[in-house]
Amino acid sequence: MPVVRVPDETGHTLTLLEVDGTYRATCSSVPDHENEVRSIPTWLARDDDVLICSYPKSGTHWLWEVTSMLIRNKAERIPGEKESAMLELIQQSRFDNLPSPRVLNTHVQYGHVPKDFLDRRCKILYMIRNPKDVSVSFFNHHAKLLDYEFTGPWETYLPRFLRGDVDGGSWFDYTLSWENFILQIPDYPILAIYYEDMKSNPFREIQRIATFLEVPCDVMFLERVTQLCDFNTMKTDKERLEDAADWRGGKSDMYRKGKVGDWKNWFTVGQNDLFDRVFAERMHNSKTNIRFSL
Ligand code: A3P
Repeated sequence: MPVVRVPDETGHTLTLLEVDGTYRATCSSVPDHENEVRSIPTWLARDDDVLICSYPKSGTHWLWEVTSMLIRNKAERIPGEKESAMLELIQQSRFDNLPSPRVLNTHVQYGHVPKDFLDRRCKILYMIRNPKDVSVSFFNHHAKLLDYEFTGPWETYLPRFLRGDVDGGSWFDYTLSWENFILQIPDYPILAIYYEDMKSNPFREIQRIATFLEVPCDVMFLERVTQLCDFNTMKTDKERLEDAADWRGGKSDMYRKGKVGDWKNWFTVGQNDLFDRVFAERMHNSKTNIRFSL
């Protein structure tokens, strides 16, 4: 059975799709979801595709909205949801029919990205967020989205996150694998964007993204995009697109807090020590510049 209940040590389970040893979110609206996900590496790209790659809960909705506005060269709210362009939540037929230029997004590791994207050297925006905030954001996501059927406590969730028993697998494996990609193909058109930098200087980061995408834009346009993609504005405009019935209590919480450092409200001293130990072990050779607070 591709849909599995992945337990923690106290028996609380998270319902996920398992595809060849990798966990993904389930999606009942995609028929034969397992085989669709399995076939992603063979999907065909277009030269002007832009692909956003990120570990879950790293700010993908934010970056998708910004990028979609920049690519359209219009500072106007994007009417759709980023899930409509997310590789592992759509069928190949839908992917093939999305109009160009496509702003796509995915949480798969680079080894599972359609090979054709890499052969055509489609531009990749790679978003990174500090994993303490990611773990808190992911816990809330799992606890509130009904499809996960998850009722476990934060205490046993953190070890689960550190093990990678979640959709998307281990944050450490994911981040190290993209770092390796960037090192191995230094001339590949990929731009790394840190959530923390986007929070501390959104205009500068959006300008950097625009330059990378080679889209003509003036300062007023970029300022307007920055405002429209500010957390509170996006929460007001976009949360209503979410299907409330998918959420515990009938209310979407996709735009939850949007802050750097919320982990400090969740981590005990012991959990922080554990996290720091695992982080030091796994990331000691990494050049990825993670900031846990601003
Ligand atoms: P929190 O749960 O910490 O609030 P993703 O889009 O990859 O699923 O990431 C979701 C996280 O990004 C959530 O974090 C969400 O609130 C935050 N986020 C979404 N839009 C944002 C924005 N415009 N500015 C800052 N953070 C945003």
